[in-house]
Amino acid sequence: MYTMEVLLHLIVCLAISISKVHADDQLVQSPSKDNSDTCGCYLINGPDAGYFQYHRFWDFRDIPNDGSNDFTTAPPTLGELQAHGGQSATSAYLDSSSWNSDWSYLDGVSSSSPNSPFPNIYSKQNVYISRNTTDGAGGSTFLTLRAARLDSFMSSSQITSQQQNLLHASIRARLRVIPNGLRNSSAPSASARLLDNLEYGSNSSHPVDQGAVVGLFTYESDTQESDIELLTQDTTDQIWYSNQPDYDNASDRPMPGASTHVTLPNGLVWTEWIEHRLDWFDGVVRWWANDTLVLNKSINAPSQPSGLMLNVWGDGGYWSGNMSVGGEVTVGIEWIQVVFNVSGSAAGPSGRSLDHTMIMPRDDMACNISCSVDGVKQVGYPEVTFHSGGGRSRPSLWAGDLSKYALGLFILVLTVF
Ligand SMILES: *[C@@H]1O[C@H](CO)[C@@H](O)[C@H](O)[C@H]1NC(C)=O
Ligand SMILES: *[C@@H]1O[C@H](CO)[C@@H](O)[C@H](O)[C@H]1NC(C)=O
Ligand SMILES: *[C@@H]1O[C@H](CO)[C@@H](O)[C@H](O)[C@H]1NC(C)=O
Ligand SMILES: *[C@@H]1O[C@H](CO)[C@@H](O)[C@H](O)[C@H]1NC(C)=O
Ligand SMILES: *[C@@H]1O[C@H](CO)[C@@H](O)[C@H](O)[C@H]1NC(C)=O
Ligand SMILES: *[C@@H]1O[C@H](CO)[C@@H](O)[C@H](O)[C@H]1NC(C)=O
Ligand SMILES: *[C@@H]1O[C@H](CO)[C@@H](O)[C@H](O)[C@H]1NC(C)=O
Ligand SMILES: *[C@@H]1O[C@H](CO)[C@@H](O)[C@H](O)[C@H]1NC(C)=O
Ligand SMILES: *[C@@H]1O[C@H](CO)[C@@H](O)[C@H](O)[C@H]1NC(C)=O
Repeated sequence: MYTMEVLLHLIVCLAISISKVHADDQLVQSPSKDNSDTCGCYLINGPDAGYFQYHRFWDFRDIPNDGSNDFTTAPPTLGELQAHGGQSATSAYLDSSSWNSDWSYLDGVSSSSPNSPFPNIYSKQNVYISRNTTDGAGGSTFLTLRAARLDSFMSSSQITSQQQNLLHASIRARLRVIPNGLRNSSAPSASARLLDNLEYGSNSSHPVDQGAVVGLFTYESDTQESDIELLTQDTTDQIWYSNQPDYDNASDRPMPGASTHVTLPNGLVWTEWIEHRLDWFDGVVRWWANDTLVLNKSINAPSQPSGLMLNVWGDGGYWSGNMSVGGEVTVGIEWIQVVFNVSGSAAGPSGRSLDHTMIMPRDDMACNISCSVDGVKQVGYPEVTFHSGGGRSRPSLWAGDLSKYALGLFILVLTVF
């Protein structure tokens, strides 16, 4: 009886080890940037080792030339009379149905803080693909967001995810504020700027114009928002991590602990390519820079389904600082990766209409194959970590328990024989 049981377990364990070895070999190379057919759920590293149901990856690193556009020339900044938006998308890629079903542009919208000296007006003309001219790049192109100071206004950029029902997510983007002098100045490009330009606050230790805010954040409303923000008036090793609201209107004071001004770890500066990451869990948000956990924050952690936004803007106010006329800041984005859960309709509370349902509902049972998004051979391509063949428990625990069990049995069998 005892021998039978051991034999049976041995067979089961052997079968599991074989399927595990097979699964480990398998690099998930989904042609699609959506959930792969192979992965049932996604694991991230960190204190929460979160398990999420959905994965998206947008890769801007090697976008093929589109017709006459080889991405070496930035679209011109707007003239004074074009202030109200309505410009065309700047490339076929940024007007494709797959782009438009995932992202929308803020265009023609003016938003400024009270008493700001000039309006901040968004245009899709400030969102474009650039050909790489930077050191440390991961590919030949990147997505660019720009803010430029004109005489009477700031011309800014923002993209917003169509999907508005993220509820808990790990959001990552490899991005860089492009230093002045590193843009392609041999091209007849409006974005060629000299490194040293004291009028704009640019020099070798601060190679960017002052007066812009770069944001990567979740957003449902002004009181349901979690931010990564960098101010180009700060030194290049400073960043802000906040859960909104960070201001208490009643007492007219900053809300203690809601916003933290952080020095990036390991000598990182935002004028280099680094991976910025925000992990939003139930009751806590954690911020990472290039794989180092930098900050945890529980106060005001958002609790409502939200969208994702990236922007570059300025309005001359206290927060953004004042960009001099003729100044501009461009931000390169090589890729964006999001693992997340959802709640409610993809369109979110705004009820905006979507071209199609972006993410098909997933069955929780489908989490019998879990994939890691961290420590993979190729960023954006999760790798199978465990193949249970049918369980629905948290798969990382299964993997650990079963391999311990198998090892014990293996030792037992060795001892017996
Ligand atoms: C995501 O959803 C799954 C299924 O409901 C749940 O088990 C998991 O804990 C959720 N993850 C997070 C980080 O909330
Ligand atoms: C990006 O451009 C720089 C400057 O031209 C070049 O040295 C580098 O090799 C490029 N990187 C890639 C991946 O194309
Ligand atoms: C700059 O752009 C020109 C085209 O206008 C191109 O020939 C040149 O290779 C580019 N330089 C770099 C460093 O990418
Ligand atoms: C460079 O510019 C920054 C911001 O304007 C300024 O604080 C710093 O003193 C300047 N450094 C040098 C070496 O000029
Ligand atoms: C505080 O006041 C500002 C400006 O009037 C407003 O935009 C914001 O929503 C208010 N915040 C809260 C939490 O009420
Ligand atoms: C960010 O991390 C990657 C991978 O560890 C490393 O290769 C790169 O040099 C880091 N970037 C900076 C700016 O230190
Ligand atoms: C964040 O929290 C985790 C565990 O909850 C802890 O291990 C880590 O040291 C904290 N990190 C920081 C920077 O506070
Ligand atoms: C902002 O800069 C402009 C010059 O570009 C100047 O006229 C204006 O007074 C400045 N405003 C503030 C609030 O510093
Ligand atoms: C995963 O589980 C589902 C539901 O239990 C089952 O239909 C499916 O065949 C399983 N997939 C694999 C690859 O084991």
